[in-house]
Amino acid sequence: MEVLRITGGNALSGRVKASGAKNAMTKLLVASLISDKCCTFYNVPNIGDVEITLAMCEEIGMEASWDKEAKILQVQTRELKTTYIPQRFSGSNRIPILMIGALLARSDQDIIVPTVGGDRIGARPVDFHISSLQQLGATVEYRNMKKEGAYFAYAPHGLKGALITLPFPSVGATENSILAAVTARGTTVIKNAAIEPEVVELILFLQKLGAIIALDADRTIHVQGTRRFHEAEHTVMADRIEAASFGMAAIATKGSIFVEGAEHRNMITFLNKLREIGGGFSVKSNGIEFFWNGNLQGGLHVETDVHPGFMTDWQQPFVVLLTQTEGSSVIHETVYENRFGYVDSLVDMGADISSFKQCLGGRQCRFSSNGYPHSIVVKGPTPLSAKTINIPDLRAGFAYVMAALLASGTSVITGLPFLDRGYENLAEKLSGIGADIERVYIEERFAETPVNFDTPYVLV
Ligand code: EPU
Repeated sequence: MEVLRITGGNALSGRVKASGAKNAMTKLLVASLISDKCCTFYNVPNIGDVEITLAMCEEIGMEASWDKEAKILQVQTRELKTTYIPQRFSGSNRIPILMIGALLARSDQDIIVPTVGGDRIGARPVDFHISSLQQLGATVEYRNMKKEGAYFAYAPHGLKGALITLPFPSVGATENSILAAVTARGTTVIKNAAIEPEVVELILFLQKLGAIIALDADRTIHVQGTRRFHEAEHTVMADRIEAASFGMAAIATKGSIFVEGAEHRNMITFLNKLREIGGGFSVKSNGIEFFWNGNLQGGLHVETDVHPGFMTDWQQPFVVLLTQTEGSSVIHETVYENRFGYVDSLVDMGADISSFKQCLGGRQCRFSSNGYPHSIVVKGPTPLSAKTINIPDLRAGFAYVMAALLASGTSVITGLPFLDRGYENLAEKLSGIGADIERVYIEERFAETPVNFDTPYVLV
């Protein structure tokens, strides 16, 4: 088993390049399945979720050539070999359910996709996806199979444009509705749609491919169906979660990092909050410089929200940053009901964080009465001390890495497959800007107990 061994205390400084966005690239791959034309992607991140998604696409007939050094991926799905996404992809990430939207028009066979996975940060149902696809004319059923269940979908009379009003601006359900609507007869109107930059990225790519999609100011998306597609080239947007993560690590460690490629327009709310606590940043022509600008002030109220709100995926490293501010701050998580499980380990490291089931601060959210601790109060500044920590999900993973970078002593972090799903070459990038971080193998049996790195034989 591989672990990260991090000795805290170094101020990070230097330059890192933001990778292509996980939550854009994986969807673009699925979108390319709509047509039989060749698509070329640039700035493709070499991360676990892209590997998994590509493997899923290849399984059903995509041919791909990926130059990982040059970050160029060329794909083409001339014909579908099968419409069955094997059960081994069950629970792997959030992507399988999107295959339904992309593939319905390419086959009159059942599209069979396993249950979706992704981080365990709440129930994460797919009811909005299913109901949108049904409104477009698809029949979607959940059936039990040998090991686990799967969704069976087909469109007996083809897909037909419809008015879809999403109960919540879900990113995935918006994307699935758009994918299916692209090949539906007539026009589809999606109301209360998600307008995250990654959703806009999908729209831009689909437009290159031949789709006719308009985005109104009031969360309404219009899609005019078509079957005429073209070859397309696309440079994947920078990962705004990764970019912000490095920015927070720079400020928390009292350093200075230039994040090349960080896109200002996609980080407005984050930068506002950073400025409120006294974090330094300077937007340059080709990226953003983040730097420590003197003592940080707490007294902040942050509510995570759908775009253009404060991203739920910025929340975890931001909590670590707040442990270094003077005073108390409140974070109210309104996107996922159960995304604070990771704070217990931060408390073990010395953070002063209390959790509340109530909605603290502004408004009552969807989770006001369901009993999940979805608000926290962080009091700072608190010194952190090193621990052995197991990563429960991707974004909590970065928060732990950041806490370890601040802590006194040497921390050991397990559960790296979570981090590898979404952060490209994390250890290399961090060590390039001065972190004392190393990725090492340990024997599985030592993983149960705190690892003592003074005993070299545990390294294999
Ligand atoms: N929801 C439903 N029913 C549905 C769909 C969503 O109730 O059918 C609820 C969810 O349970 C959640 C809320 O709606 O409470 C928002 O979920 P959404 O569908 O927007 O999230 P997602 O598409 O599953 C994507 C990202 C997440 C990111 C969210 C919010 C991908 C692969 N994942 O998830 O990213 O947090 O949007 O921006 O795009 C991550 O990268 O670590 C990550 C978790």
